Amino acid sequence: MGSHATVAGDPPAYDLDIVRKFAIMTIVWGIVGMGVGVLIAAQLVWPALNDLWSPYTSFGRLRPLHTNAVIFAFGGCALFATSYYVVQRTCQTKLFGGWLVPFTFWGWQAVIVLAVITLPQGMTSTKEYAELEWPIDILLALVWISYAVVFFGTIVKRKTSHIYVANWFYGGFIVTVAVLHIVNSAAIPVTLTKSYSAYAGAADAMVQWWYGHNAVGFFLTAGFLGMMYYFVPKQAGRPVYSYQLSIVHFWALISLYIWAGSHHLHYSALPDWTQSLGMVMSLILLAPSWGGMINGIMTLNGAWHKLRTDPTLRFLVVSLSFYGMSTFEGPMMAIKNVNALSHNTDWTVGHVHSGALGWVAMISIGAVYHMIPKLFNRETMHSVKLINLHFWLATVGTVLYVVAMWINGIGQGLMWRAFNPDGSLAYSFIETVVFSRDGYIMRLIGGVFFLTGMLVMAYNTYRTISAAKQASKDEAATTAQAPAV
Ligand code: HEM
Ligand code: HEM
Repeated sequence: MGSHATVAGDPPAYDLDIVRKFAIMTIVWGIVGMGVGVLIAAQLVWPALNDLWSPYTSFGRLRPLHTNAVIFAFGGCALFATSYYVVQRTCQTKLFGGWLVPFTFWGWQAVIVLAVITLPQGMTSTKEYAELEWPIDILLALVWISYAVVFFGTIVKRKTSHIYVANWFYGGFIVTVAVLHIVNSAAIPVTLTKSYSAYAGAADAMVQWWYGHNAVGFFLTAGFLGMMYYFVPKQAGRPVYSYQLSIVHFWALISLYIWAGSHHLHYSALPDWTQSLGMVMSLILLAPSWGGMINGIMTLNGAWHKLRTDPTLRFLVVSLSFYGMSTFEGPMMAIKNVNALSHNTDWTVGHVHSGALGWVAMISIGAVYHMIPKLFNRETMHSVKLINLHFWLATVGTVLYVVAMWINGIGQGLMWRAFNPDGSLAYSFIETVVFSRDGYIMRLIGGVFFLTGMLVMAYNTYRTISAAKQASKDEAATTAQAPAV
């Protein structure tokens, strides 16, 4: 299909080829990233797996590959696909930017492939979620700026007077990620594959976690809220519960998130007041987060019965429940006394994945299931039953993962701080590792469930696209056979 392929009878013509490409790569990178997740989860059960192909497959090298692949490759492709889809439909116009549009696709894929090549070799800036070395960072910045030009250019040439709220969230996410990436990645290159951060000591840590937390707030949250504001009402066939609330939600969320990063640095060399500020801002953040969640869930008012038959809608709604859960848990973990127990334990990893699997992955999956039939001119996906199977695999997988990590995390925290009457530690570190093993097995099983769901999705998508191709071949054959009138 050409780069300007359109859906028949769907005026005006949209650029859908780019959406198709990003949507398919969402599934592909989802499988790769989660596959690596399952491998590193297995390494924590059977450490011998570290030596599969030493040193390239050691946990320390594969862990950043996992985080980069799931956040930037899987999550990123989902955000590109949906934002390009949503901005065109809500602005009633094609994408702006000409060759910049395919450049965002190929440039982004190049960044990911370079990550896959460099991270297992141990090339890293050592900054979490920003591990890529400086030449890749520069490419990433160029792609991102092109993305901004395409997105905002499309908004400028819109045919509608209003800018729909989903675009506000996507726009906020695009601008903030550009600023975060450029500031945090500032570095002094030594060779092509090694650089040192432009910041030092506590200032470096603060910049890093200002970036890290807002990567969560904008990459893993604001962009996906953009998705929520378009796909939940569309799939439910209902208008957004409160449009006014969505505007308050937007401004409150973006103005609060930016202050909370220091909750990652409690009890560190950071000035104490900065830590307390991060804690207070995190607690206040609960309000807009829940406001947004409630706005999404209440959109189903009058359409609850659809949940019985529509597993795509179930993905979208359950993702909001996990969003609510992780944004309740986050502010609690930001309280210094709670963080004294949770920090460095598996509780953090559980919190991460209730957000990452439950919220980010589930809403992306729901949005992709919504888009695929529309992108390939089909009424529905090949099999709704398989979407339902995927839904249960994903939900059970997430719950197993998160519960295992809660048990491990709280157990580890309590064991590490238990003392004997003489002041010595009640448990040696290895005793806490032994205690954690069962949880690691349960997490691995949860991960396998989630990954299996993604494979089911890939099969269902493949069958949907094949059927679309067959239908267009049949149509062409019928047209060719038809007698000339
Ligand atoms: C099959 C699904 C998945 C499995 C089995 C899995 C497994 C893992 C494992 C074993 C770790 C390392 C934990 C540790 O260091 O103790 C990890 C870390 C991480 N994963 Fe996943 N993961 C999965 C999906 C995802 C997804 C979809 C995302 C994001 C959208 C994600 C984001 C992360 C992040 C951000 C970390 C770092 C956590 C931290 O530093 O606290 N994961 N994952
Ligand atoms: C109101 C919302 C939220 C707040 C206040 C919050 C707060 C926190 C806190 C306090 C930590 C532990 C920091 C530490 O002890 O090192 C944390 C870790 C983390 N959270 Fe959240 N969280 C929120 C929502 C979310 C969501 C929705 C996601 C994912 C989609 C998420 C992803 C993460 C990640 C990836 C980390 C691990 C960072 C690392 O150490 O590598 N958070 N969060």
